[in-house]
Amino acid sequence: MKVLKRVLLTGGTGFIGSHTAVILVEAGFEVILLDNLCNSKVQILEQLKKIIGYRPIFVEGDIRNSALVEQTINKYKISSVIHFAGLKAVGESVSIPITYYDNNLAGTISLLKAMQATNIYTIIFSSSSTVYGIPQYLPYDEAHPTSAINPYGQSKIHIENILSDLAKSDSQWRICSLRYFNPIGAHSSGLIGEDPNDLPNNLLPYIAQVATGKLPHLNIFGNDYATEDGTGVRDYIHVIDLAEGHLAALKFLNENDGWHVFNLGTGTGYSVLEIVKAFEKASGKKISYKYAPRRAGDLAKSYASSNKAKKFLGWQAKRNLEDMCQSVWNFQSNKI
Ligand code: NAD
Ligand code: WQD
Repeated sequence: MKVLKRVLLTGGTGFIGSHTAVILVEAGFEVILLDNLCNSKVQILEQLKKIIGYRPIFVEGDIRNSALVEQTINKYKISSVIHFAGLKAVGESVSIPITYYDNNLAGTISLLKAMQATNIYTIIFSSSSTVYGIPQYLPYDEAHPTSAINPYGQSKIHIENILSDLAKSDSQWRICSLRYFNPIGAHSSGLIGEDPNDLPNNLLPYIAQVATGKLPHLNIFGNDYATEDGTGVRDYIHVIDLAEGHLAALKFLNENDGWHVFNLGTGTGYSVLEIVKAFEKASGKKISYKYAPRRAGDLAKSYASSNKAKKFLGWQAKRNLEDMCQSVWNFQSNKI
């Protein structure tokens, strides 16, 4: 397959980065993964080798090390960057905000400086639906005002503002902020997936560990929300659909300069109870659950309008909830 371009994936050994690496390689790109391994394992490279046929180039290091990033861009003749690297635990960001601002915000500034110094001006940034805050209307579209109630969300808003300013300052910049909704799922091989080291914060990895018996039951945070069944509703998106969204954004940036923001979601919301049922069906396992108090900062409902991505990127999510749950179970049961 012809290699079109070389893409640096910061945070490339993480959950979304590793799946995007596979999709880009399959599309003819060459990927270079840079990661400090603070939330992923080097063994992922061997798993990627089993999927793509070779061990991708890996640079162990931190995005705050500008010299290393510049050296990497020059050495591998990088032409664009997909910037996944960041800390993402909302609750932790409230307890240790400086760590979050240093890693996410200072880290991104350092990365952008290294890009400027090496004349690389194309970047896709991993933003989040969290930037919309409490919904003024649903589905959220990209024109919805932004606000954040925790340092994690603030770091994403600050970074988006910096990217927007940068694009205004110099027309060489080609930038997409992709606002992900709730990425779940795993590669069909079952070799890579979401694999948190600690107690999972997010719903799907938690349910998967209840299914294997590692955790006794799921705590459902609130059953008195203004939703059909009282539990929280979210827009879950298959990580492979999300990865394909990055491929579409890279192609878009080939043709367009400036700063552009796109939601990546499915447009459909599912409640926690609907997810529990879907996972039981996919795994054949009973998921025990108990109702627990609402989790601070949680919304009743969050779901996307992805019309803009469909119109400008020619992208839309193709995989359904059954695909998502089956792939998570395939990955999780492979690890037992
Ligand atoms: P992840 O933790 O699996 O991957 C992030 C990777 O970045 C990890 O491998 C980690 O080791 C690395 N990293 C962190 N700080 C670094 C630094 N300073 N230098 C180098 N590497 C560093 O998380 P993910 O779910 O793959 O998320 C990727 C991106 O997408 C993050 O920016 C996250 O905020 C964003 N995002 C994630 C979700 C989600 O629910 N998973 C939703 C919206 C946005
Ligand atoms: C989903 C639903 C919970 C765990 C978070 C971040 C967001 C984005 C995606 C990065 C909610 C309920 C969960 C559990 C439960 N990440 N739940 N029991 O909160 O929508 O979004 O990840 O940008 O910024 O906030 O995802 O998977 O944690 O929760 O009942 O043990 O499941 O209350 O309704 P969330 P989640």
